[in-house]
Amino acid sequence: MAEAPLRLGVLTAGGDVPGMNAAIRAVVRRAAQFRCEVVGIRNGWHGLYEADLEELGPASVSGILSTGGSILGTSRFNPFIRESGPERVLVAIQRERLDAVVVIGGRDSLSVAAKLSPMGAPLIGIPKTINNDVYGTDYSIGFDTATTTVSDALDTLTTTASAHSRVIVVEVMGRKTGWIGLVGGLAGGADFIMVPEVPTTIASACDHLSRRVEAGHNFSIIVVAEGARVTDLSEVGDLGPTDEFGNVRLDRRSLGELVAKEIEKCSGLETRTVVLGHLQRAGRPTVFDRVLASRLGVFALDLARQGKFGMMACLLGSRVVASPLSEVLRGSRLANIELYDLAKVFF
Ligand code: F6P
Repeated sequence: MAEAPLRLGVLTAGGDVPGMNAAIRAVVRRAAQFRCEVVGIRNGWHGLYEADLEELGPASVSGILSTGGSILGTSRFNPFIRESGPERVLVAIQRERLDAVVVIGGRDSLSVAAKLSPMGAPLIGIPKTINNDVYGTDYSIGFDTATTTVSDALDTLTTTASAHSRVIVVEVMGRKTGWIGLVGGLAGGADFIMVPEVPTTIASACDHLSRRVEAGHNFSIIVVAEGARVTDLSEVGDLGPTDEFGNVRLDRRSLGELVAKEIEKCSGLETRTVVLGHLQRAGRPTVFDRVLASRLGVFALDLARQGKFGMMACLLGSRVVASPLSEVLRGSRLANIELYDLAKVFF
């Protein structure tokens, strides 16, 4: 008797990133090669909790390789803060007869998968986050596009900063880690970078700006990660309620604006602020992210077919490998300090 085809679920969870759709497409297209059925789970973990599902076939993923966002929708829904939430997700997986679920998520959403996995859920992870802070992989889907956006913005802002002889402070995302600020800033020729991993001060930034003026530079671009540690700055008060994973709204910190004000005060240089915000999560994925998403999606499907649950499809060096989902429970993978030292060469 012929074996019943595998029935697989796929969901996207956490903040959206360019390349999520490319990953969904890869899972669905690879599944079609092996006649596996695929069920799309809407709005992240919420879709399993509420049984909000749709059948997906190759036609459903046609034309999405180059689009941002997620055709399935996403959310920061956390089953673990709900009474019997994890059990309800496990029951949904059984009731929907899912042989495996591919979870395309960042640190928080993958941590749900890492905790559900030992409870018996057949889960495979694919890391996506512009923050690039997931342990077990060198690159997460979306990071390359976000840093390309930052680098392009710095290139563009240089002309207006130079025309007006100004300092421009560019606030970028980066909650606990400075990968975006560091890599985007290095690529875009930032003249000073403030990130969470390396404490800096307004005083040292101003000293640096004075030296730049003495050396004949009439403008400077400063990159500030939203979660940067600026030790001589008095912080804002209420950041509002946290999300379901305990994260505060760092956009409310307005760190770029605070830094700009203080820099103008202490350096006497006219200073402006640009907040790149959700532009970093928007738009078409770069070639790198499309290829990465395609590779990780195909690999994840193959892991599911082999019954290798509790693993993530990851990129280590130039190779796609399986890393344990439990890696994400180690916390945030911090940005490389050696890279910061390299960026300093160009300040
Ligand atoms: O995806 C992570 C992240 O980009 C953080 O760096 C940022 O603070 C957060 O998302 C903001 O997302 P949202 O406005 O969707 O809550």
